[in-house]
Amino acid sequence: MHFETKAIHSGAEVDETTGAVAPPIHLSTTFERNEQGEPSRGFSYIRDGNPTTLRLEEALAAIEGGEAALVFASGMAAGAALLQTLPRGAHVILPDDCYYGYRNLAEEFFERWGLTFDIVAMEDLDAVRRAMRAETNVLWSESPSNPLLKIVDLAALAEIAHSGGALLVTDGTFATPALQRPIEHGADVVLHSTTKYLGGHGDVQGGALIFRRRDAMFDQAMHVRKVTGGVTSPFNAWLVLRGIRTLSARLRVQSENAMAIARFLAAHARVETVFYPGLESHPRHDVARRQMPAFGGMLSFLVRGNRADALAVLAKVRLFTRATSLGGIESLIEHRATSEGPGSTTAENLLRVSAGLEHAEDLIEDLAQALA
Ligand SMILES: Cc1ncc(COP(=O)(O)O)c(C=O)c1O
Repeated sequence: MHFETKAIHSGAEVDETTGAVAPPIHLSTTFERNEQGEPSRGFSYIRDGNPTTLRLEEALAAIEGGEAALVFASGMAAGAALLQTLPRGAHVILPDDCYYGYRNLAEEFFERWGLTFDIVAMEDLDAVRRAMRAETNVLWSESPSNPLLKIVDLAALAEIAHSGGALLVTDGTFATPALQRPIEHGADVVLHSTTKYLGGHGDVQGGALIFRRRDAMFDQAMHVRKVTGGVTSPFNAWLVLRGIRTLSARLRVQSENAMAIARFLAAHARVETVFYPGLESHPRHDVARRQMPAFGGMLSFLVRGNRADALAVLAKVRLFTRATSLGGIESLIEHRATSEGPGSTTAENLLRVSAGLEHAEDLIEDLAQALA
């Protein structure tokens, strides 16, 4: 079955009791037990599971091609839960252009959790091989990455991870399963901030882990979620489920818009560099083509000059909204270093764009007047 069809029909069974076609939202935090005090219909307490949340998990597992999924209150909660399943002494390899929240988490919490980490530019496969140690449990990848849109070869990374006895985890937030399914390339766990494209409308926070196998790591992550309580609300799960239905259609337009914007910016005299994997000039365009049918709605670019020059462009946009986050229907632009705050490693003249569903010509016209 094609992805578009799966995205409509996964976790979309008609409600048995009412025949409702749109899924019901079960807000109940607790579920009736039988005379022996046992949960008799599969649900007990919301921190263990909820029917609406379960529907979303089934849909996510189906569209990513994994055996099981777990949803969380945010992408950060999902990533943290996965890392908290690791034994003391475990070593994690993080990519150099990792979402800054996970880098901060590593710097602030890994030592307390008994974990160590190294940061590696993962497009250099030999550097990844050199960084692998006997105690490396996780190779953490992100493709395309935030905010530099770096592309890594997932199949090659999976081979390196597996030959060293480690797991490949891929943050696929920018690509979404509509454009890239890391499990098909060998990844063991896929992570999403469902706050972004999966929710798709900038009005819900959530995170997800999708597991190639329903194995011990899945059980442990579920246990961490139950104990630490990073569960999502059923209403948020329902919103993400609804978002999945239109994911392919949105990503098609957002990818076209981002490509048009990238081409416009690449030809502009005030732009130093454009980071978009769909451009032939992107250093890993060939790898992106192998892994993705289209290149997504995210791009970033360096304004010629310094921080003040980038901020001057940012100040002039009219149609774009100056805001962080991504994956919604409206186009956003941000000065990434300011959003990331102290400790950011992002260039001061970098602006990041999330292309929405507006007409590409209107978006380009806005950027043209802002750059003029
Ligand atoms: C690539 C990526 N991964 C993870 C996250 C974290 O997700 P959340 O904000 O839902 O915790 C983000 C948030 O921007 C992100 O861009």
